[in-house]
Amino acid sequence: MREQLVAYFQAHQKLVESSALQMILDSTRPLDLSRELIELAGDGSPFVTREMVEGLMGRATLSAARSAARADPGPEPEGYALIAEGFQVGSPGRLPLQAYGELFQSRYRALSRMLRSSPELSGARPVSELRRSEGRASLIGMVREVHQTQEKRHLVLTLEDDSGAVELLVPRDTDAARVPFLVDEVVGVVVQLPREKDRLPRVVSALRPEVVLGRSPRRSPSRTRALFLSDLHIGSKSFLAAEWAALVEFLHGRGPDPELAKEIQHVVIAGDLVDGIGIYPNQERDLAIGDVFEQYAELGRRLRELPSRLSIVVVPGNHDAVCPAEPQPALPPSIRASLPENVHSVSNPSTFSLEGVVVEAYHGRSFDDLIPAIPGASYARPTEVMKRMLAMRHLAPIYGGRTPLAPLARDGLVIDPSPDILVTGHAHTFGVDQYRGVLLLNASTWQAETEYQKMRNISPVPAYGAVVDLRDLSVTTVDCQGGEAHVRTGA
Ligand SMILES: [Fe+2]
Ligand SMILES: [Fe+2]
Repeated sequence: MREQLVAYFQAHQKLVESSALQMILDSTRPLDLSRELIELAGDGSPFVTREMVEGLMGRATLSAARSAARADPGPEPEGYALIAEGFQVGSPGRLPLQAYGELFQSRYRALSRMLRSSPELSGARPVSELRRSEGRASLIGMVREVHQTQEKRHLVLTLEDDSGAVELLVPRDTDAARVPFLVDEVVGVVVQLPREKDRLPRVVSALRPEVVLGRSPRRSPSRTRALFLSDLHIGSKSFLAAEWAALVEFLHGRGPDPELAKEIQHVVIAGDLVDGIGIYPNQERDLAIGDVFEQYAELGRRLRELPSRLSIVVVPGNHDAVCPAEPQPALPPSIRASLPENVHSVSNPSTFSLEGVVVEAYHGRSFDDLIPAIPGASYARPTEVMKRMLAMRHLAPIYGGRTPLAPLARDGLVIDPSPDILVTGHAHTFGVDQYRGVLLLNASTWQAETEYQKMRNISPVPAYGAVVDLRDLSVTTVDCQGGEAHVRTGA
């Protein structure tokens, strides 16, 4: 953890005093604290001091007391360490508009700090100063609007920061225009200023925050594997009971490759644990269990079928019985109580390490906004969209679409630190891919196609599990389609 923290501070151009580092290491949430310290130090200071840690810890005691009342995550599994939960209790009593203002400022601060570390953007100026500059200039802003000019189909991009907004021209067929700009993402641009003041500054290049390349890989020293699953939809008539039974047999070493099964120590489930109630029109017709508490009781029974040596981390999804606004909190104690002891329940999204490997787990509701916004994107290939998430360093940037965003003071959907594995669900398909050294998984589903999905033209790829060797991040697929487990290397 010490090396991880030092590297984290270095990635943010901060030097940390050794006594300060020790205090951070001794705290319950080292990474959360580090994040706040980087924020506190701001762009002005390269140092993180002991006094700064003490100041923050004083405040932290208060928020810890508040969040202790929130949920019971269950005991921490061995080899597991929580790094950060997306959901944090905000300061109460703020007006909603003010709260959204704080959310976007938090996003802008976090992502512009990452962008500023690239040499092209180190001299980025506030938007309001742009008109006074000449030649080339760089700026960092949040995308407010994008539209096409009628005749020549160039893009006109409106970027915004604390100081104001500016319209920029992105000529079509240039590199900068090739990657579509998404509303509310934070980008850096180098612009050429026009001599004639009535013309728009022209974008020469556009940069995303991007995951850090060339990180030293974090790997498990021991022969340990993690199984990634998603979208169980317990309580749905379409839950694939025979396929689930095949998975249970496999994990108990009574299927193919019992040696491999024995090495699995961790299970991660990326949301939609149950089917829920009232999630879409006429859902009751598709339900085998019409009571949501009964659905979680059944989930508890299903998870007890798995070997008890496994530690299981669960995040909620849009079908689960927690507030739908993201980041979503962990399951409430009343529901957590029906799940076995070896289940650890955290918020959606959450960042945690398994045997030293950093996992970012996010259900993936934002696919519903990102897929329509990115030309060529589809539910059949969610990992392509996940690459965009990593480039943007944000899981759900678009505000006002299908993904409700919670008005919290800190944007918990920013991707920080760069993970080793990004896992999502929600798309009900199976995808394994890589991006800049990050393993991408879309972890299938245990629900057959529903009428609702047929209507929406989503064809699921159910009953797959991704088994990741935590020593080298190689993937083995467990395919339980047809109620019989098959194991194969790769996707
Ligand atoms: Fe789902
Ligand atoms: Fe979902």
